[in-house]
Amino acid sequence: MTSKIWSPNSWKQKPAQQIPTYPDPIKLDEVETKLATYPPLVFAGEARQLKARLAQVVEGKAFILHGGDCAESFSNFQANTIRDNFRILLQMAVILTFTTKKPIVKIGRTAGQFAKPRSNDYETINGITLPSYRGDIINAFKFDQTDRVPDPERMERAYFQSASTLNLLRAFSQGGYADFHQVHAWNLDFVNQSPQAARYESLATQLDGALAFVAALGISSETASQIRETELYTSHEALLLPYEQALTRRDSTTVKPHDGYEGDWYDCSAHMLWIGERTRQLEGAHVEFLRGVQNPIGLKCGPTMTPDELIKLIDVLNPMNEPGRLTLISRLGYDKIESLLPSLVRRIRKEDRKVIWCCDPMHGNTTTASNGYKTRNFKHILSEVQSFFSIHQSEDTYAGGVHFELTGRNVVECTGGDQEITEQNLAEGLYETLCDPRLNASQALELAFKLGIMLTQGFHK
Ligand code: PEP
Ligand code: CO
Repeated sequence: MTSKIWSPNSWKQKPAQQIPTYPDPIKLDEVETKLATYPPLVFAGEARQLKARLAQVVEGKAFILHGGDCAESFSNFQANTIRDNFRILLQMAVILTFTTKKPIVKIGRTAGQFAKPRSNDYETINGITLPSYRGDIINAFKFDQTDRVPDPERMERAYFQSASTLNLLRAFSQGGYADFHQVHAWNLDFVNQSPQAARYESLATQLDGALAFVAALGISSETASQIRETELYTSHEALLLPYEQALTRRDSTTVKPHDGYEGDWYDCSAHMLWIGERTRQLEGAHVEFLRGVQNPIGLKCGPTMTPDELIKLIDVLNPMNEPGRLTLISRLGYDKIESLLPSLVRRIRKEDRKVIWCCDPMHGNTTTASNGYKTRNFKHILSEVQSFFSIHQSEDTYAGGVHFELTGRNVVECTGGDQEITEQNLAEGLYETLCDPRLNASQALELAFKLGIMLTQGFHK
C-alpha cells in the first residue's frame, strides 16, 4: 500500500524502473546538490494556471494540443529548431481554434524532454553489445562503450538547455512572434511548398477578416493581450527522478505560517509532467513521486491497462478528484483502440472521475520498415485519432485533446500523408530522430486539418 507520508525523495523506497545506475554516486550527489540550488524553471503559479485551463477541458470547454519532439538532444539545440517546433504548434492551434471554436491549450514536449524509457537495457550492433541510449540527459547516442555510460553531469547540461529553450519560448510567446497578425508569416519556409500551404493560407486569410472586424470594435494587438500573446506550457516525461527531485520546490505563496504549513510541492522542471507506459506501476517510484507534486500530470494508458488498475492509479494520483490534475493519455494502437478504450472510458464515466482523455496516436503505432527504419504510418495515426473521437462520441464523453510527436522541420520519418512518403524515402537522408519517428510540419498540418474536418463533420471512417 502507498504510505501516506510523501517527500520529494520518498520514491527512493519504491522499486524504480528505467532509472540508470550511475557508476559514480559521488558525482551524482554533487550534481543533484547543485541542481537543487539552481532557480526553478517554471513558477508554481504557472502550473496552477495550466491546471485551471485543463479544468476547462474537463468541462468540455477547451481542447488540448500537446506535441513536440520524442527526445530533445544536445546536438539539435538551435534557435531555429525551437522556433520551428513552436510555429507548427501555433499553426495547428489556429486550425483547431477555427474548427472547435474553443480555446486550445498548447503544451509542448519541450524544455526538458530528454530522458527516454527503453524496452531493452542493451543494444547489439555487429555482435557488440552496449547499454541502450536513454536520452541525452543520461548518456550519449554514439555507439561507444564510454559514451553509453550514464553521466550525471548531463543533467546539468539538460537543465541549462531547458532554461535557454524556455527563455526563447517565453520571448516568442509574449514578444510579438505569436501575434495573430503573424499568421501568414508562420506559413513561410518549406511548408509553402507542401500540399497544406494553400489550405493554411486560405484559413489565414479568413483570420485576417476576423481580425479586421474586431479591430473595428477597438480590439487589436495594442489593446488585447489575447491577440498579441499566447500561452505555451512545457511538459516532459518525469522519468529521471533524481533530476525531477532536484527541481522540486515548495511554493512560497501557499505557506500558512499559523498552521506551520511550509507550502505545496511543485516539480518546477516543467508545468506538466507525465508518467510513461513503462513506469506506471502502482507501487513504483514514478507513481510515488508524482502523487506528491501539485502540477497537472499525465498518465500514459497502453494496451495492458485494465479498468481496475486505472481506477487504483487514479485513487493515488488524483485522490481529491480535482479537475485538471490528471490527463489520461491513451496510446493503444489503431488496431486495438476499438476493443480496449470503451471499457476504460465507461468505468471512468461510471465512477465520475474528473479526468481528461487525450489521444496519443503515436506510441501504439510504431513499426519497423523493411529497410530497418523505425517508422509510423500516417494512415494508422489518423485512424487511431478517428477511433478515439468516435468512441467518445458513442460513449457520450468528451475527447479532450491530442498528443503528437512532431517537429516543425522538414524531416522524413513517418510514412504516408499527402506527401506520400514511402519506406524507401526514409533512407534518403532526412531521417533525423534519435528516438521515435515524428510527423514533419506538412504531416502535422495535414493531421490538424483532418482533425478539424472530423470535429465539424463527425468521426466515422
Ligand atoms: C513517449 O511519449 O515518448 C513515450 C515513451 O511514450 P510511452 O511511455 O507511451 O511509450
Ligand atoms: Co516517443
